[in-house]
Amino acid sequence: MSNLRLPEGFKKTYSEILGNDYQIFEDTLFKDRVKHFRINQHRGIEYLPEIEELGIKCEHLHGLSAVYKVTEGAEKLTETIAFQTGGIYIMNPSSVIPPMILTSLTDQTGLFLDVSAAPGGKTVALADLTENKGRIIANEPSKKRLKSLNYNLEKYGCWSTATISLDGRILDRHYENTFDGILLDAPCSNENKIGRNDTVRNGWDDDLVQRMAKLQREIAQSAWECLAAGGTLVYSTCTFSKEENEFVVRFILENNSDAELIDINKDAYSKGITGDTNIDDKVIRVWPHIQDFDGFFIAAIQKTGKDSRKIKNKKFKPYDKFEKFLNIHENNYRICKGDGTSFIEPLLHDGIKGRFDKSGMQLMKHEKDLTSAAVWEFGNFIKDDFKVAITREEADRYMKGFDLPGKAVNGAAAVFYEGIPVGSVKSVGSSLKNKLDRYFLYGKNIEY
Ligand SMILES: C[S@@+](CC[C@H](N)C(=O)[O-])C[C@H]1O[C@@H](n2cnc3c(N)ncnc32)[C@H](O)[C@@H]1O
Repeated sequence: MSNLRLPEGFKKTYSEILGNDYQIFEDTLFKDRVKHFRINQHRGIEYLPEIEELGIKCEHLHGLSAVYKVTEGAEKLTETIAFQTGGIYIMNPSSVIPPMILTSLTDQTGLFLDVSAAPGGKTVALADLTENKGRIIANEPSKKRLKSLNYNLEKYGCWSTATISLDGRILDRHYENTFDGILLDAPCSNENKIGRNDTVRNGWDDDLVQRMAKLQREIAQSAWECLAAGGTLVYSTCTFSKEENEFVVRFILENNSDAELIDINKDAYSKGITGDTNIDDKVIRVWPHIQDFDGFFIAAIQKTGKDSRKIKNKKFKPYDKFEKFLNIHENNYRICKGDGTSFIEPLLHDGIKGRFDKSGMQLMKHEKDLTSAAVWEFGNFIKDDFKVAITREEADRYMKGFDLPGKAVNGAAAVFYEGIPVGSVKSVGSSLKNKLDRYFLYGKNIEY
């Protein structure tokens, strides 16, 4: 039991809803959460042995794609090469459910919008689950948070993603009737953190809930307009209030005759709390005292009707300078050449426009060297001639920005530790020169 007191209005609301379960719910709100991570699977790299080698113990969570619960050594997670090279994302398991639901209802090659994306946990999962085969537009209005989003997208190899920075309430002015799948992980009153975060606790009142609910209805309606017929909107928050959850869903259903709520609960999770079974039975609620995860709400709404979009995809020639390094014969990407650098972007949905803050992923520098982000992402396809095996100690030194003396190999382009791509290098004299982008060396404190 904590000495800190929750706001009276909060206690009253949730005692009425939860009855006898209220006290255990309140106690759980003050407890630190067990750490979990999700493996970036599409790379096809075995990250677990390296994680376990550091003494970290973890177990797979059944039913949640590639999510592991850390049972020992969580403090060492950020020291792993897997974490530093974008192989694992440390996240709350509930956060994986919205992208899992959206990708289960939308074709992998579809066009996606992530309305409120920073710092990017769900966009990273979305890019991973679609294997970068579609196209994702990730929006974040806060310029500061956009930086974290861009950093994470580069680190985790989300090259099918482009970022924009608009208020969610006006997205429909730019993207009406455009997307196959939309994720709205809305800004909210954050009640889930009310026990553990002083700012959330001190800032909570009924008025905040009402203001957030109004903002959510406005963003949700704008997102709805951006959806193409046949497409799906997944709405989620990490707060408990029905005003910010079921009532936002009800608002969309009442105001749009083409909106149909999909049953994503299927009796597998806790249900809604409004008493309206038409909504409650179909949505998902995750309660921290029941599931040991952060509290979450998720709903999926489909737009009925016939899709009238005309989608054009351009054709691009392969880029042999990049392909010389790789055993890769897919052609679902295109390469754009900038000033001394090249970027990889998806081939599909090339016609989608926007003032992109970032698009695709940096691939090569000066048309000669792979970037480290490219090595992390495409490591599994790099031809043996360009690879050099290094020790754990050398990998740790590399991640700190040091060169590797005495390791030069003619034509070396990438270093690997036990099959994990660690980064890009170049042989200079007898050393392997460290080509890790300074962006990754100095951006480590960025939010994830
Ligand atoms: C719950 S967080 C998103 C977390 C993110 N989806 C993830 O998984 O990492 C909500 C985000 O909404 C953004 N936001 C705030 N006001 C917004 C608005 N008017 N339109 C769109 N997004 C907004 C916040 O800056 C914040 O980054």
